[in-house]
Amino acid sequence: MDKPKVVLGVAGGIAAYKACELLRRLTESGHDVRVVPTDSALRFVGAATWSALSGHPVSTEVWSDVHEVPHVRIGQSADLVVVAPATADLLARAAHGLAGDLLTNTLLTARCPVVFAPAMHTEMWEHPATQENVATLRRRGAVVIEPAVGRLTGVDTGKGRLPDPGEIFEVCRRVLARGVSGPDLAGRHVVVSAGGTREPLDPVRYLGNRSSGKQGYALARTAAARGARVTLIEANTGMTDPAGVDVVHVGTAVQLREAVLKAAGEADAVVMAAAVADFRPAVYAEGKIKKKDGAEPAPVALVRNPDILAEISAERARPEQVVVGFAAETDDVLANGRRKLLRKGCDLLVVNEVGERRTFGAEENEAVVLAADGGETPVPYGPKEALADVVWDLVVPRLGRARTGEAGG
Ligand code: CTP
Repeated sequence: MDKPKVVLGVAGGIAAYKACELLRRLTESGHDVRVVPTDSALRFVGAATWSALSGHPVSTEVWSDVHEVPHVRIGQSADLVVVAPATADLLARAAHGLAGDLLTNTLLTARCPVVFAPAMHTEMWEHPATQENVATLRRRGAVVIEPAVGRLTGVDTGKGRLPDPGEIFEVCRRVLARGVSGPDLAGRHVVVSAGGTREPLDPVRYLGNRSSGKQGYALARTAAARGARVTLIEANTGMTDPAGVDVVHVGTAVQLREAVLKAAGEADAVVMAAAVADFRPAVYAEGKIKKKDGAEPAPVALVRNPDILAEISAERARPEQVVVGFAAETDDVLANGRRKLLRKGCDLLVVNEVGERRTFGAEENEAVVLAADGGETPVPYGPKEALADVVWDLVVPRLGRARTGEAGG
């Protein structure tokens, strides 16, 4: 079988050197990579480096090797185009269909999935011009991964860092695996909650649960690779923020509710994968609760937490919004699941059977996805990402057709 053909576009930003690592990962994992830098990218990393690492000649403009019509051929024959780093200027040129150099020509002729990994200063990323260009590219079906937050060039810190090359590679791998129909969540905004809430009792103790957050992270990662803008609301997972995703960190059920309601306001889909504590201590002790010699411990009074899933299902922020819940059951799994689906009022409910060594913290999962319209989709034991993809496969046809802007493609 021919090696998958990847075009690595490199725009002129300081993070260009990190694209060498992405290139190395792509070639070492059996991809045939053609690097197409811009002129300014070559001011950061020279053509000799790209050429030696990729095993192909490198050119920036359309006038070299004209007999091979590279400005058309490179894009047409690619299975994936990934631009890392994508500068504000490159995003603007791509959004407006300019074709002044080989990379922008390649973007216009490519009919395969396209991934942009932007990197720039926070102000440039947040500028309405850049945000509108990103929204345009996403509506057209491109996967634009969110920049990471951290140290930028110089002394600044903020959003705008190129995500770790290993993480960009993972996004590319997933996008390639799904092929041309892959970015079916492009132009959509999805919200995923993950992890388990902790309800403080005093400054050192809490009521918590055993949710690892792995299923929620798998949902966030797969949604990003399918082109969605993703807000991941995580509670106490201790995991590294996934690439290409906006992450909001919370601790308690009340904080989770606030974050979910805020993000859900403009979301096309909300997936509640977090394990939310149903109860919290009625009283929070400002000082550490001390044991008293000989005395029995005082009982802990609990009060109910708000049911976030039921609330967002009942009061849809948008008429076409799709809401997905999770249920962990130990007995009578399907019957309990059906009852819970009705009670919560969501569109889909992913029902897991839980028990010792099952689901919590595991890398694999097995579930049945129940739909409010009567559907029942069993998902065999397998990686949490496979279950995540089934969830999105079921969400996509339920999303409203009212996607604004251009058609995909
Ligand atoms: N959930 C929520 N808010 C809560 C409790 C749960 O949004 N206060 C969400 C979870 O994120 C999950 C779903 O509801 O998507 C199912 O949670 P589960 O704890 O299984 O449901 P319960 O309503 O607690 O039902 P039971 O205790 O009867 O199992």
